[in-house]
Amino acid sequence: MNSKHQYYLNSMGITVWQDKQAVDAPKPALEVCSEEKSTGYSWEALQQAVKNCTQCELCHSRKQTVFGVGPADADIMFIGEAPGASEDRQGEPFVGRAGQLLTRMLHAFDIERQDVFITNVLKCRPPLNRDPSGEEVAQCSTYLQHQVAMVQPKLLIALGRVSARYLLGVTAPLRQLRGRKLTYGSLKIPVIVTYHPAYLLRNPRDKNKVFQDLQNAMKILKTSEKSS
Ligand code: URA
Repeated sequence: MNSKHQYYLNSMGITVWQDKQAVDAPKPALEVCSEEKSTGYSWEALQQAVKNCTQCELCHSRKQTVFGVGPADADIMFIGEAPGASEDRQGEPFVGRAGQLLTRMLHAFDIERQDVFITNVLKCRPPLNRDPSGEEVAQCSTYLQHQVAMVQPKLLIALGRVSARYLLGVTAPLRQLRGRKLTYGSLKIPVIVTYHPAYLLRNPRDKNKVFQDLQNAMKILKTSEKSS
């Protein structure tokens, strides 16, 4: 680990006791069904559909929709829960305090924010940042399904319980999903589950666990680069 990494880790409040603390990285198959790339939407049409969406009542309270940012061919897709107040104001995911922590976490792995795709399960802010309802997730997640099918990232990183449970179709607690070999849907895209940065702001001691999860994520990426 170089001094730049160490600097970013320190700024995240992470103490790394030894470099090789990661558990064995999952090595799931990376096969992808190419026909699922054609979802019936162009990227621009999908953006427009999200922008004009009135499928649920969140359209009345939102300032704007938050589609997601990043390259449409990104290798990694980070998926959070839903926009908060800052995101609702700026129209971009993870720009508030939690987002700033996410950006620092990316830097610790030499990743720039603009090189990954960042989005949420919900594209509109739930009032008072309440948890998304099952119905909201069911309706809004079709947009996320299209995004994943179009970007076809090599890796999905679920930030927090709502995203993990949606992607995996399970109701297990997040701690049971971390560190396991998991994949998303018929595309079988590897999924890494980790804590939401907002949780880390409240529970900074768990930053080491997220660091471990991201190390596993990097191993999966490296493995997929070798096999492609
Ligand atoms: N929390 C999320 O889950 N997503 C955001 O975009 C911001 C905060």
